[in-house]
Amino acid sequence: MYNNISTTWSKMANVNTFGDPTQSYVNSSNIANNAIVLDADKKDFNESLLPFSSHPLWNDCTEEVKSTVLSHAWILYNRKTVFVECDIVTPTCEILLKKPPVELHRSDLQTCISEALLDEALHTKMSVAACNLIADFRCLDKIQYPDFKLIRDLNNMLSTVNSGWERNLIRLTAACVSETLITDYLSLLSNDTSIQKVCQDVTNAHAADELLHSSLFSQLMCDLLQTLTLLEKKVVTKTIPIIAKLFADNELVVWREVLHHCNVQSLNVIIEDVANSKQETINVEGVDRFLSRCGIDPDSLDVPDLVGL
Ligand SMILES: [Fe+2]
Ligand SMILES: [Fe+2]
Repeated sequence: MYNNISTTWSKMANVNTFGDPTQSYVNSSNIANNAIVLDADKKDFNESLLPFSSHPLWNDCTEEVKSTVLSHAWILYNRKTVFVECDIVTPTCEILLKKPPVELHRSDLQTCISEALLDEALHTKMSVAACNLIADFRCLDKIQYPDFKLIRDLNNMLSTVNSGWERNLIRLTAACVSETLITDYLSLLSNDTSIQKVCQDVTNAHAADELLHSSLFSQLMCDLLQTLTLLEKKVVTKTIPIIAKLFADNELVVWREVLHHCNVQSLNVIIEDVANSKQETINVEGVDRFLSRCGIDPDSLDVPDLVGL
């Protein structure tokens, strides 16, 4: 299995296809050389993905305000991606490289993990370049965005755990769940031809890589579960729904700051109504896919119904 993942990676991962002109958008030197064409009339993000897109007071905003909020939405979308890569996936890959938790196929696993790390480094580079490109093009003010709840709560959770093995297991589970959900998260935009082409292309390139290596993390979890004690398995099944719920969170604290910055007068009502509606714009159905790949019985999780938490 790990061998197959590695073989496909060497042929198809974006990090290996820089020579292919069709992949030129991932090369930030093209951005620096103004080789990318931007269209001022196109939106930078899909409005329907905003947690408040159907709120009547949002619909009352001017087109100018909406356009600026959508540009910030593009920045936030990528910013969240970068935080997932840097704070969740990368530290886990580093732990796995230094101390592979399963002896079976040890060297193949290390190869795949080191390849995934290369992918994530490229994704971070792509996201940062694409954010700065849009921020410069739209002359966006710099906003001090608040921390994402996903990252803050995960770090709080890790800080309350005393034992190293439990911390590593929480990290690994969080990375596996995130790697499953990030593919769905990216696919929301990757097929959207109504947005700025570079925004679609960058997201599409990233989603393709994630799809390629997402099975690595479910396979790893599957192999690992065979070796865990009952107590360790409980840590895994307790962590999965927590991370899924955090991943799907609407991050309203961050949105409040953006709406405030864009002078949306009715922001308090909008944010309060969305918070009360408990509707999420990201679904967590991918977790079901992850559970079945890993052979985890959904009934063993600490919540009765995972989808639509
Ligand atoms: Fe990635
Ligand atoms: Fe990934």
